[in-house]
Amino acid sequence: MAMHIEAFFHADTFTYSYVVADQVSGQCAVIDSVLDYTAESGQTSTTSADQIVNYIHEHGYTLEWVLETHVHADHLSAAQHIREKLGGKLAIGNQVGRVQETFGRLFNAGPEFAADGSQFDHLFADGETFTIGQIPARVIYTPGHTPSCVTYLIGDAAFVGDTLFMPDYGTARCDFPGGDAATLYHSIRKLFELPAETRVFMCHDYKAEGRDEFLNETTIGEEKASNVHVNERISEAQFVQLRQERDSGLGMPKLILPSVQVNMRAGEMPPPEANGIRYLKIPVDAL
Ligand SMILES: [Fe+2]
Repeated sequence: MAMHIEAFFHADTFTYSYVVADQVSGQCAVIDSVLDYTAESGQTSTTSADQIVNYIHEHGYTLEWVLETHVHADHLSAAQHIREKLGGKLAIGNQVGRVQETFGRLFNAGPEFAADGSQFDHLFADGETFTIGQIPARVIYTPGHTPSCVTYLIGDAAFVGDTLFMPDYGTARCDFPGGDAATLYHSIRKLFELPAETRVFMCHDYKAEGRDEFLNETTIGEEKASNVHVNERISEAQFVQLRQERDSGLGMPKLILPSVQVNMRAGEMPPPEANGIRYLKIPVDAL
């Protein structure tokens, strides 16, 4: 198996996107791409996403899958742009309707917004298998941060989304609508059953205190041994208490409102109004 993983770091949102390529067949997948967005002006740009597009062009790869680990609340997805440029099937976990329902209600998206995942090309069930060229891949349902989070296990590499962070940083927050700390604990326990040498790729890194470089890769063994929030010696009750305490002190991510209303639409902007302009809404005192 000749699998190559290329990471792309988006410094504004601390997000890692990935290209996972089967170097034999030339097929590849993009995981968790980012659309540049300036909150002050409402301006989007594909500068960062085009680095991924160019990389795939340069290597002569064919894009088979555009994968999202979840409906992100901290950055806008560039999935639509990537798919438009390179093709591929846009996919996410099949519980995405639960997130769409919650946020469709918050943004009063109206009847033209179907909360059934139909904006995606494919919805993955827990345990579903697929391939990237000849590389076998499996979907592991890992809810908790959101009710529809999934991990993509591709070859020996787990793309965990916002389930686990680097061992010295811990875990993702569980206080967004539909999030649940106990659920995240059980999802992480499920990941801990993977072989210890399984490589784990982050969706984010925020540099833990005392560390001076960003990191995006560890192993299941390392996480089990030393994750500061949820190593194998931490009980569910201990984790839930720690997670809830942490979450109660966190502010909302800077881009949650634009991110969620775009990402719940599979990265599509809301439809234009009569003047041809698309608008993002800001719910007041509702989040
Ligand atoms: Fe997230």
